[in-house]
Amino acid sequence: MTIAIAVANQKGGQAKTTTTINLAARLAENGKKVLTMDNDPQGHCAIALGIQPEPCVFNVLLGLGDPHQWVRETKRKNLYLIPGDRSTATAQSVMSAENRPISAVGDAIAPLMAEYDYVFFDTAPSAGDPTDQGVSLSTDCQLISSRSHMQCRHPPRTFQTY
Ligand SMILES: Nc1ncnc2c1ncn2[C@@H]1O[C@H](COP(=O)(O)OP(=O)(O)OP(=O)(O)O)[C@@H](O)[C@H]1O
Ligand SMILES: [Mg+2]
Repeated sequence: MTIAIAVANQKGGQAKTTTTINLAARLAENGKKVLTMDNDPQGHCAIALGIQPEPCVFNVLLGLGDPHQWVRETKRKNLYLIPGDRSTATAQSVMSAENRPISAVGDAIAPLMAEYDYVFFDTAPSAGDPTDQGVSLSTDCQLISSRSHMQCRHPPRTFQTY
């Protein structure tokens, strides 16, 4: 069974990417096969894993070819990444402009899901984007990472924004 986890917080700098990469790396180290999809146009997952940001998320979101070709190996065994870059924002705009259903995000990655024990989605510091809602719908668990005292006091309010 695949467990899909989105790491989110509309506020920037709240350790979303750090949490995603560290959880994914530890699970991979423990023998689990792990895929991370970087849904943040900043492309920080690739940078954190020492590989090149590329428009792979753009291609997956817009259904350009078999999604397997957009998965990259990392230097860590069992840990795979669909890297993103600023083109991810373009794909998100296209999806909004074309009124694609929010389930489109899950549909785009569906052919890959069963091949992994865990799939992580890193997300951008934003809320209300249909892609974020799509990610949220496609996962078993939404993990709100926060370094902010105020947000830790009101987690239900933070969850409501997704
Ligand atoms: N537990 C922690 N303690 C202290 N600093 C941390 C911790 N986790 C992450 N950081 C630092 O906080 C900064 C922001 O982390 P990170 O890039 O993971 O946040 P983010 O939520 O993904 O940011 P963005 O919204 O820009 O994508 C980084 O400099 C990171 O090293
Ligand atoms: Mg980040």
